[in-house]
Amino acid sequence: MLAPLDKNSPFPKGFVWGVATSAFQIEGAAAEDGKGPSIWDDFCRRPGTIADRSHGERACDHYHRLENDLDLIADLGVDAYRFSVSWPRVRPGGDGAWNEKGLDFYERLVDGLLARGVKPYLTLNHWDLPSELHAKGGWAHRDTVHRFVEYACGIDKRLGDRVSTITTHNEPWVIATLGHETGIFAPGIKNRAVAMQVSHHLLLSHGLALQALRAQGCKSRLGIVLNLSPTLPVNDTEADHAKTRLEDGRSSRWYLDPLFRGSYPADVLEHLGADAPKVEGGDMAHIAVPMDFLGINYYTRAMVSAAEPFEVSDSGYELTDMGWEVYPEGLTDLLVRLHEDYPVPPMYVKENGAAFKDVMVNGQVHDEQRRSYIANHIAAVGNALRRGVRMEGYMVWSLLDNFEWASGYEKRFGIVHVDYESQRRTLKDSAMWYRDFLQRQKAARGLGAAQLTGV
Ligand code: FCB
Repeated sequence: MLAPLDKNSPFPKGFVWGVATSAFQIEGAAAEDGKGPSIWDDFCRRPGTIADRSHGERACDHYHRLENDLDLIADLGVDAYRFSVSWPRVRPGGDGAWNEKGLDFYERLVDGLLARGVKPYLTLNHWDLPSELHAKGGWAHRDTVHRFVEYACGIDKRLGDRVSTITTHNEPWVIATLGHETGIFAPGIKNRAVAMQVSHHLLLSHGLALQALRAQGCKSRLGIVLNLSPTLPVNDTEADHAKTRLEDGRSSRWYLDPLFRGSYPADVLEHLGADAPKVEGGDMAHIAVPMDFLGINYYTRAMVSAAEPFEVSDSGYELTDMGWEVYPEGLTDLLVRLHEDYPVPPMYVKENGAAFKDVMVNGQVHDEQRRSYIANHIAAVGNALRRGVRMEGYMVWSLLDNFEWASGYEKRFGIVHVDYESQRRTLKDSAMWYRDFLQRQKAARGLGAAQLTGV
């Protein structure tokens, strides 16, 4: 257990507190007002892909409940709301005509946030690639890189003057590896060479988009969001250490090295052999273009063993409903490592939270495990700040219970409970705690001192 934060809070005055969601997981309205299909719409229809056989057609019906949900966000007292734009809602085919009704939805979202004093944090790609682009080869096809740059520029023209940050991609590792190597996520491809080419195209499109956005005078701060975890050996053996180094290479250094050093890690390239991506001259320099921020999504640590399969359940750490260990100190370790190993820009935690089996009793959800998870991870960010890491914000995943990808609606990550039948929203105890915490934070700011107690 981490020490509670004392009144010498490490959080600086402008530190941004937020909540996060993504388009496919909450919007619903999958085929309304001109929206085109995405690879996740298609994937959900395939038998055996989603645990509870559900889909995103209605989700949290956020598309129709926008004003209410914006009020909910504002009532929490957060500084910022992280959301994603659904590419097929605004440009249904990924190419060609733009959809005014789709763009209008995001205009209302952004303006509604600003009117309520909440800063919009926009993500361009939270996985819902337009199906038509996938039919033309998807992220494995180099043309998609250029379609993404056009999409980024189009969104910036409409919204860039009003959003605080633009994230190119959310978790490229997930898109590449879970989407194209293990195939447990959309588009469900199982081919390592394809996955590695996809990862290269995601990185390249990130770098090219940043340059194009800056060239057209984009006013938002620009960056990417990576899912990173400290990777640790189960056993103190040479074999486990070697495998851990490779796993860290594949999941973390594969993205960090090109972004901050302009090259892929040599050990991973050697391991991949013929499955290494095709890289054209100039690509690496494009990828390494400086960012204004780096976003981190952190949930747990990764344990690695050369002996498969192995059990981590007896590690002594509490497990979430996803089976992930609750390991807040890993967040401090990760942030310190990034700060020490790479020339990182200021960082944000852009997602952090936990699924637990919630029970609603008399209209209340006493989710003490989630509350303590969030409090301890906030404390972990504080500890990183104390160690000199430049951190600018922290966002809880997630505002609402929502469609948790291959787990469907069975896993609840929200600090706000959603009854999917009635679409009623109910603040869980964790949401009320976060709201109180932010109020205390604001009161302390008002006093001119970043005092913070009770975490
Ligand atoms: C992250 C995703 C987010 C959510 C959380 C639990 O990998 O970015 O959409 O599913 O995990």
